[in-house]
Amino acid sequence: MKLEVLKYPDAALRELSEPVDNFDAALSRFLDDLAETMYANNGVGLAAPQVGNRIRVFVIDVDQKDGLPGKLYEFINPKITKGEGSIVFEEGCLSVPGVSEEVTRKRKVQVQYWDRKGQFQVLEAEDLLAVAIQHENDHLDGILFLDRLSPLKRSLIKRKLSKVVL
Ligand code: CO
Repeated sequence: MKLEVLKYPDAALRELSEPVDNFDAALSRFLDDLAETMYANNGVGLAAPQVGNRIRVFVIDVDQKDGLPGKLYEFINPKITKGEGSIVFEEGCLSVPGVSEEVTRKRKVQVQYWDRKGQFQVLEAEDLLAVAIQHENDHLDGILFLDRLSPLKRSLIKRKLSKVVL
């Protein structure tokens, strides 16, 4: 089932999400819906709080093409345990339509997480996958990519965004 994606400046995007402790059928169903919503919107990542579910879950598929699945990753209770190097990437966000800006992040990360079966996983990621993991992980803490821009750029974009909200 396709879910509604909350848009900036919805206050729900600013909340802290809670860890998952039940790896049950409802979680699996939600993960399916989250991925379906990501693909339907041509996104490469989507976090649970973006659809109004305040749990520490996100999905990523940096290989999706025009909404067709490539390689889907599902992250539950993720924790970035290592980061190195730096990369500048032009990011957008399904919750901030029409805006894309360059953000500097770690080029390589190590992330620990659980999969939908409750199995512990460790992944080493780099480049776009690493960027996506950091972007989505920020959503679980109520952080948007706009917050990672320079103060000047941020205030310009926030002013522009506030003008288009009718
Ligand atoms: Co986003």
